[in-house]
Amino acid sequence: MILAVCGKGGVGKTTISAVAAAALRRRAGVRVLVVDGDPAGGLGMALSVEAKKTLNDVRVEVIDEVKAGERSKRGLAQAMDYRLAEAIIENGNLAFLSIGRPDDVGCYCRVNSFLKMAIESLAGGFDMTVIDAEAGIEQVNRDVMATVDYILLVSDTSAKGVRVAETIRDVAKRMVGGDGAGLVINRVRDEGEVESIRRSTSLDVIGWIPEDDSIRRYDENMTSFFDLPECPARISIENALKATGLL
Ligand SMILES: Nc1ncnc2c1ncn2[C@@H]1O[C@H](COP(=O)(O)OP(=O)(O)OP(=O)(O)O)[C@@H](O)[C@H]1O
Ligand SMILES: [Mg+2]
Repeated sequence: MILAVCGKGGVGKTTISAVAAAALRRRAGVRVLVVDGDPAGGLGMALSVEAKKTLNDVRVEVIDEVKAGERSKRGLAQAMDYRLAEAIIENGNLAFLSIGRPDDVGCYCRVNSFLKMAIESLAGGFDMTVIDAEAGIEQVNRDVMATVDYILLVSDTSAKGVRVAETIRDVAKRMVGGDGAGLVINRVRDEGEVESIRRSTSLDVIGWIPEDDSIRRYDENMTSFFDLPECPARISIENALKATGLL
């Protein structure tokens, strides 16, 4: 199963992806690929995992080799697999991969196409893949989502957040492999907020997460989410992930 966590900027995508990674890490025997799809790279920080080489580095290396005539077209696929393997950091049963940032401005689309290719080539070797997607709809537009089975849409309680989630769902509808998409509402202070969002949207609200100081503290101190103890937010996130079929 390939699950992508999507939504407006700052709504909690990385927090949810990190809790998902931590929960799957506790399941010995399940092989999990965790992809930090955000060029700004927050998921590595949340998990205290540092990629020495990113997908963008691999992309640049492969392009350079082809330009230098060192690779035939046939050798290219092999070189890709080898270099992708170099970019993966193993942590228990998890394999972590970071998309990275292109140096030249304005070519994120290329690294996004590369991300799609990498997911297609790698995900078959894993039981579960979790992608912390970049904010907004760029990666959805770039067909990365064609490889995805379930889009976990995240919003805070703002109308804007919910509208962005709806837009992502609409764009993704044309591309997502499976038909799974559900909304999680984060940073809820009062359950009434959830009810009014349920009434205002056609999205399937599969869960909500309370505002929780433990999350804030973990981010402030950059403590790895692998060590996040059970707290109300973690329990709610895990319940929402169960509803998606990931856990
Ligand atoms: N349930 C919660 N309770 C308290 N704080 C939270 C909660 N969820 C997220 N936060 C805080 O909100 C901020 C943004 O969260 P996060 O980084 O997960 O969002 P994001 O969607 O990944 O953002 P970006 O779009 O910038 O990647 C963080 O400082 C995080 O600690
Ligand atoms: Mg993030």
